[in-house]
Amino acid sequence: MDLYEYQGRALFAKHGLPVLGGGVAETPEEARAIAEELGGRVVIKAQVKVGGRGKAGGVKLAEGADEATSHATNILGMDIKGHTVHKVMVTTTADIAEEYYFSYLLDRANRTFLCIASVAGGMEIETVAHDAPEKVAKVAIDAAKGVDEALARAIVEQAQFPADVADQVVSIAVKLWQAFIAEDATLVEVNPLAKTTDGTVLCLDAKVTLDENAGFRHADHEELEDKAAADPLEQAAKAKNLNYVKLDGNVGIIGNGAGLVMSTLDVVAYAGEGLGSKPANFLDIGGGASAQVMANGLEIVLGDPDVKSVFVNVFGGITACDAVANGIVQALQLLKDRGEAVAKPLVVRLDGNNAEEGRRILDDAANPLIERVDTMDGAARRAAELAASGV
Ligand SMILES: Nc1ncnc2c1ncn2[C@@H]1O[C@H](COP(=O)(O)OP(=O)(O)O)[C@@H](O)[C@H]1O
Ligand SMILES: [Mg+2]
Repeated sequence: MDLYEYQGRALFAKHGLPVLGGGVAETPEEARAIAEELGGRVVIKAQVKVGGRGKAGGVKLAEGADEATSHATNILGMDIKGHTVHKVMVTTTADIAEEYYFSYLLDRANRTFLCIASVAGGMEIETVAHDAPEKVAKVAIDAAKGVDEALARAIVEQAQFPADVADQVVSIAVKLWQAFIAEDATLVEVNPLAKTTDGTVLCLDAKVTLDENAGFRHADHEELEDKAAADPLEQAAKAKNLNYVKLDGNVGIIGNGAGLVMSTLDVVAYAGEGLGSKPANFLDIGGGASAQVMANGLEIVLGDPDVKSVFVNVFGGITACDAVANGIVQALQLLKDRGEAVAKPLVVRLDGNNAEEGRRILDDAANPLIERVDTMDGAARRAAELAASGV
């Protein structure tokens, strides 16, 4: 889960990192109130989960509350790289002398953590790495050992931070690592880490990604979720513990196993070419497809008004096809009992363990909405046709 800057900044503050005071506002009036409270010059910063806000006009200096209000008016509602600005952060202005870069991240390719540090900050680190790779220090961090003062000092030396800020950056490097570990983050990035004209080093931007797999360890992380921005179907699916991703097509997809569902998306996209049909979602109901799980899955997929047909693609393994077929039949009954009777056609393909028995169960149920097609390509084609004809 990516955080907004104001949330990352609060997290930094919690772990003792030097950040500037400020607040977050959803209206120009709220921005004015914060600016008045801070007094003097302030910075208005668009809160969107994308970098390069400065360049896009989403970070503006204001001399006082009046200018802060007008900047907030302009920035709220602005579109930055496809993200609409709903909130702005209002903070104290720093008199910047130098801008550095500092981050910790999970380095999946090398199966380790990585520190990236550079005295050339403020701009995108990818650009610096490309144009002046000698200015970027990359230090692998042993997860078991972490970053102590000695390692922090080594990083600071390797990145060639100036001597006058070395101690401050060492202290920040250690605290930032503690924050990274304590919060189960996969990225903490400070760009710029800035030296002010009076020699103080401050974190002026905060980019944080939290590991949702560790969410159970952090009751306080849930409130960081941007519920308003989340797709309502994705939210409902999450509440039901389903692996669901909304896409923009018209063929609902349900399968067991992420790999099978991924290839189902491909096959449906291919079959739907020229028909205008595309997958409407990714939904993996996992191994043990009980009637309850199938009903939950169908409820989510059918709840999508864009869905015109549903392709249920199951390869029986440990959970055999007969159990899945019973699950489908019972799920339809469950939905009917709940007053949410299914009115869209389902194309079901069963293969693998006990496929014959599963198919017989579907045939016996004789539900006019269920069409059984026994090959994956054939079923994808049929689902794409049904969606295109908008039955
Ligand atoms: N509090 C601040 N005071 C002064 N300048 C700032 C402040 N915050 C950001 N800036 C300037 O604006 C630039 C862009 O802001 P930043 O928060 O890094 O957004 P982004 O990375 O999305 O462009 C920074 O590199 C810095 O020069
Ligand atoms: Mg930045």
